[in-house]
Amino acid sequence: MDEPSLPALSIAFITVPSPEYKAACELRDGILRRPLGLHLSQADTKDDHNQWHLGGFINNTLVGCVSAAKTNLQTQDFQIRQMAISDAMQGYGLGKRLMQFMETHLQSHGCKRIHLAARVTAQGFYERLGYVAISGVFIHNTLPHITMEKHF
Ligand SMILES: CC(C)(COP(=O)(O)OP(=O)(O)OC[C@H]1O[C@@H](n2cnc3c(N)ncnc32)[C@H](O)[C@@H]1OP(=O)(O)O)[C@@H](O)C(=O)NCCC(=O)NCCS
Repeated sequence: MDEPSLPALSIAFITVPSPEYKAACELRDGILRRPLGLHLSQADTKDDHNQWHLGGFINNTLVGCVSAAKTNLQTQDFQIRQMAISDAMQGYGLGKRLMQFMETHLQSHGCKRIHLAARVTAQGFYERLGYVAISGVFIHNTLPHITMEKHF
């Protein structure tokens, strides 16, 4: 018998504040912070109102999110941050789709370069999307990270 296929993913921008933003903060906390014994902090969210937030929804439930911030007005650099897919939905291609949607959006706003701090455990995910490492390993929020970038 065929495996049941994943219900359709819808991708939409999330405004700050909104019920969807609240759900995204809960997802970020649950996937990116609580497993480390941390909580989503004021430092994590203080600039959220100036950033883009993308949500991936299945049956109207948020299953993934990613955010982007403009970090250099002159060079059109953007930073991708807070990439998280719910535990049950990891490995189905949703992270890749959210990243590609965000990249297309940033390019339409003149983006020439995206950089991000990748967990070393997720480095291969970003490499498959064309990102390359540009730093040594450093510790951030208790975990080894590496800076990666992609030019457009
Ligand atoms: C890392 C994460 C965002 C990836 O999203 P995902 O939906 O599970 O990944 P996808 O199914 O879209 O994978 C896309 C490709 O990357 C690969 N990949 C996914 N996670 C990977 C990982 N941790 N290491 C290496 N490769 C990975 C997949 O095998 C797939 O490869 P393919 O295109 O050759 O088939 C997600 O697993 C997650 O939220 N993990 C926990 C939080 C986290 O680490 N966030 C990133 C912080 S920097």
